[in-house]
Amino acid sequence: MRHVISSYDFSREEFHKLFELSDEILGGKLKPNVNGKVVSLAFFEPSTRTATSFATASWRIGAKVIGFTSVEGTSVEKGENFADTIRMLENYSECIVVRHKFDGAAKFASEVSEKPIVNAGDGKHEHPTQSMIDLYTVYKVFGQVDGLNFALFGDLKYARTVNSLLRALTRFKPKKVFLISPQQLRARREIVQELNYEVIERDNPYDVISDVDVLYVTRIQKERFPDEMEYEKIKESYVVDLKLVEHMKKDSIILHPLPRVNEIDRRVDKTPQAKYFYQASLGVPIRMALLYTILTG
Ligand code: CP
Repeated sequence: MRHVISSYDFSREEFHKLFELSDEILGGKLKPNVNGKVVSLAFFEPSTRTATSFATASWRIGAKVIGFTSVEGTSVEKGENFADTIRMLENYSECIVVRHKFDGAAKFASEVSEKPIVNAGDGKHEHPTQSMIDLYTVYKVFGQVDGLNFALFGDLKYARTVNSLLRALTRFKPKKVFLISPQQLRARREIVQELNYEVIERDNPYDVISDVDVLYVTRIQKERFPDEMEYEKIKESYVVDLKLVEHMKKDSIILHPLPRVNEIDRRVDKTPQAKYFYQASLGVPIRMALLYTILTG
C-alpha cells in the first residue's frame, strides 16, 4: 500500500515506469484489469479534468467508482468532519482520491486511512498526478524530459501544479528552468530553496522565450488569494498571445494544467506549440497506469 501525496513520492525510475505503462495502455499492449476493485472520489473542491479523468481511468481498468465530486448532498453538510468522511470511504473502497482546499489535507487523510490516498490537489500545496501528466506530455513530444529548457509562467505562488512540477523536475535533468511571473506571484522561497537545480527568475517572458522548449502556463489562482483586492490589482497582468508565440522556437510547446481563464489567448490554440488539450487527454492513460499500479501493489 502506498499513498501519493507529493511528487517527491516518485523516483525517476517510477516516473519512467508510469510513462512506459501509459504507452503500453495507449498502444493496446496492456489491458489492465483490477477485477471490480472500488475507487473513491472525495472531491471537497471543484474539478472538471481530475475528477472525470480519474473516473474514466477507473472504469477503463475494470474498477468501480463511488464517492462525490461536491460536498453538496453528503453528510459534510450535516457537520461530519474530514477524517470521519475519509474513514467511511476507507471501509467501502480500495483507494481514495482526495481533493481539498486545505494544504496538507491529503497527508492528513493518509494518516487516518489504511487504504492508499491519492492527492488530487490540496490547497496551494501539491497536485502530483498533474505533474505526471505534464511530464508524460513532455516525454511524448520530445521523447525525454532531460536536457530541455522549461519556463513556468504565471501564478507561481499559489498554483499547486507549479510546486508539484518543480519537485518532479528534481527527478530529471532539466537544462534550464525559468520562473516568469509578476513580482507578487513569485514562486515560494521554501519551494525554490529545496530544489537540486538552479532557477532563473524573470518578470518579462520576452527576456527568455526564444530559449524555451516547454512553456508551462498557469492561471491566477483567484480562490487562493487571502485578499480579493490583491487579486483585482494583478488579474490579467500577463497573457500568452500570438505575438509571444512568434518568438518561440518552432518545436517548443505550451502546456497548461487548465482550467484557463484569460492567460492564453484563444487564437494560440491553433498554433503548433499549443499542446494543453493533448496534455489533458493524457490524464486518462497516466491515471490508469497509476491506479493499476496502486491497486495491484
Ligand atoms: N488540472 C486540473 O486539476 O483541473 P481540474 O481542476 O478541472 O481538475
